[in-house]
Amino acid sequence: MKDISEIRSDFPILGRKVYGKQLVYFDNGATAQKPQRVIDSVDEILTFFNGNIHRGVHYLSDMASESYENARQKVAAFINASGKEEIVFTSGTTGSINTIAFSFGERYIKRGDEIIVSHLEHHANIVPWQMLCERKGAILKVIPMNSNGEIITGEYLKLLSPKTKIVAITQVSNALGTIVPVNEIIEAAHSNNTPVLVDGAQGIQHGIVDVQKMDCDFYVFSGHKIYGPTGIGVLYGKKKWLEELPPYQGGGDMVEKVTFEKTTYNHLPFKFEAGTMNYAGAVGLGAALDYITELGREEIAERERQLLSYATECISGIEGVTIYGNSERKISTISFLIDGIHQYDTGMVLDKLGIAVRTGTHCAQPVMDFFGIDGTVRVSMCFYNTRQEIEALVQGIEKVKSMF
Ligand code: ALA
Repeated sequence: MKDISEIRSDFPILGRKVYGKQLVYFDNGATAQKPQRVIDSVDEILTFFNGNIHRGVHYLSDMASESYENARQKVAAFINASGKEEIVFTSGTTGSINTIAFSFGERYIKRGDEIIVSHLEHHANIVPWQMLCERKGAILKVIPMNSNGEIITGEYLKLLSPKTKIVAITQVSNALGTIVPVNEIIEAAHSNNTPVLVDGAQGIQHGIVDVQKMDCDFYVFSGHKIYGPTGIGVLYGKKKWLEELPPYQGGGDMVEKVTFEKTTYNHLPFKFEAGTMNYAGAVGLGAALDYITELGREEIAERERQLLSYATECISGIEGVTIYGNSERKISTISFLIDGIHQYDTGMVLDKLGIAVRTGTHCAQPVMDFFGIDGTVRVSMCFYNTRQEIEALVQGIEKVKSMF
């Protein structure tokens, strides 16, 4: 793997100061920073190749279409999909889950059917399913969690029944960092003839994802959390499912023939891509995946394991600090509170020291309710963070303690 200073210099924003202090960026779970290469790729398509994709006979449209389809191929290879027709571009994880909740729901869900999610989900993997349940009279079942922040798989097995029509599960908890045993979840669901959607928003960037090996039916993630641009995301679906499901949105490009009497739909994946897509974003995502691949995904995961271990040791050693989420299997995220100090106050003081963390419920209110708290301070690290930054955080926490 490249030397850490070389890696950091790939990300121009990491060199900046905020409030006159060197930026320490620990909010990668919310959005990750972008390497120059991603910035350049978006700049290049907008500067030199901007033309609406799949629509023109002219040079610019052809170039933009080719770059967009190349990006799709890169995504397919990155997650080992069996073909690029299984990759649908969306606006992000939320857009992808809403697509499946609508399309799958329209085709397969009826009154009394059951949908399983877990207590660890963020709102994007709860609310679309609740909306579907409301529309169809279906029932949402929730896999409970334990005080380590892990789902209780024994309870999950009890929830599965002939009424279960789909399981939607996160690969990693955004609020606590817990890695969920998705392989086990998928195997049990499939024994029950139930498809599984895996929410990879916090999983894709921390290790190798092979959708064929995982055997998930749907896998979704956002570009901006894997060092790509915002407004672009991925919906992977097994071809047999995507072929069977009705489209989500109607509009240009998702159609084959339109008459006022009847419209027929385009083939995969375009059936799910209505209107002008975010092609510049897709190209940026492709550049991000190239970057990650060259850095080495095993190496990234190993570096992040080391950061997690060091940060856990440092933070748990501070008197009066409680860490939420103590699973043995975690990504490089630590959620904590300082006794008697509101998470918002901690976040504000750290911010003034140049340290960016996330505070609040992390769009996962049920997780906070489980612990009986109204939020945590979340430190979400990635491969470009350093031990020195963790030490700066520890000093910051001590400073917060001394102020309140
Ligand atoms: N879901 C994002 C997070 O975890 C926004 O911060």
